[in-house]
This record gives sequence, structure tokens and C-alpha cells, in this order.
Amino acid sequence: MPTVDSAAALKVIREELGECTRCRLHEGRTHIVFGVGNPHARLMFVGEAPGQDEDEQGLPFVGRAGQLLTKMIESMGLKREDVYIANVLKCRPPGNRPPKPDEAATCEPFLRKQIASINPVVLCALGSSAAQAVLRREDKISAMRGKFFQIDGVTVMPTYHPAYLLRSPSEKKTVWEDLQKIMAVLRKTEK
Ligand code: URA
Repeated sequence: MPTVDSAAALKVIREELGECTRCRLHEGRTHIVFGVGNPHARLMFVGEAPGQDEDEQGLPFVGRAGQLLTKMIESMGLKREDVYIANVLKCRPPGNRPPKPDEAATCEPFLRKQIASINPVVLCALGSSAAQAVLRREDKISAMRGKFFQIDGVTVMPTYHPAYLLRSPSEKKTVWEDLQKIMAVLRKTEK
């Protein structure tokens, strides 16, 4: 069992974030999308930023890419409630453009604290923005995916973003290989 209660720690982080106005993105947002799921999750997913559906509902990955992420989670024998899902940015960038470096840098401490509180066995970084932010690397996602990295004591597997899979369904089998590697680690560390 974790020594600090992760649910309480996440609540403190959410309170610290408050009705954030630290960067320009607060101007266009409807809801902050903090993250959702099991505070004691052994598997955490990190995406890029909320899209329109997420901004409207205040929840991550609830649009089309989110439905595919749910399928990916279920194909691993898990439910959405078993894992924790968050994004690099907590507010929607206009027109779903990628995060600007200053926005990512401003939001990053909150993601780092979420990761530290949940302390997952594996973190799956979805797409290049998430992988680059989590791993503090600038490599392309195609170069990073499928390999395990260690950052702050957490095992990280970058893979393609589900929105990319909607555009390039032939890469689904590649992502499935990455997810299977994650499942192997989760099985090995099961008590
Ligand atoms: N894409 C993301 O990266 N995050 C979401 O929450 C939804 C779509």
C-alpha cells in the first residue's frame, strides 16, 4: 500500500491548480481537464491536451480518440476505472493546435506531481507531445515508441496517439505490440 494516500494527494494538486490563469489557454477554456481514474493505478496514460469534447465535459479522452483509447485499455484486459488518464496540458489549445513550449512548461509541474502521487508501475505516453514532455526528450515518437524509458523512478512506454491511429489504422498493430510489452511488465510485477 502507498504510504501517502494518492487520492488525497491528487486532491491537493487539483486545489493548487485552482481556476488556473497561469497561461493564455485559460481564456478559451470551458473546463479544466485535470485527469481521471484510479489514484492507485498501476498503469497511467498521458495524452497531449483536451480537445473540444474534453473541454466541454471536463474529462480526458472522451471524444473519438478517447473511445479508441478505451478499446485499447479493454484489449489489455483492464477497464478505464482501473487506470489513470491525464494530459500534458489541462486546458484546450485553440483549434487543437499542439502545446506551445511555454504552455507545456507551465502545466508540467502539475503532471509531474500527478505522476509522483499515483506512482504507476508503467506510464504510457500517447504521442510525441506526451512522450517529449514526460521524458524531457526531443526525439520523434517513431524513434521512441516501443522502448521502455525510466524517468524519476517510473517506467515509461511511448506509443502512438489514438488520434493518429484514427488517421493511420495500419499502425494499430504497432501500438498493440507496445501495449503487450506493458502488459508483460504489469504481469511480472503483480503481487
Ligand atoms: N487527445 C488528447 O491528447 N487528450 C485528450 O484528452 C483527448 C484527445
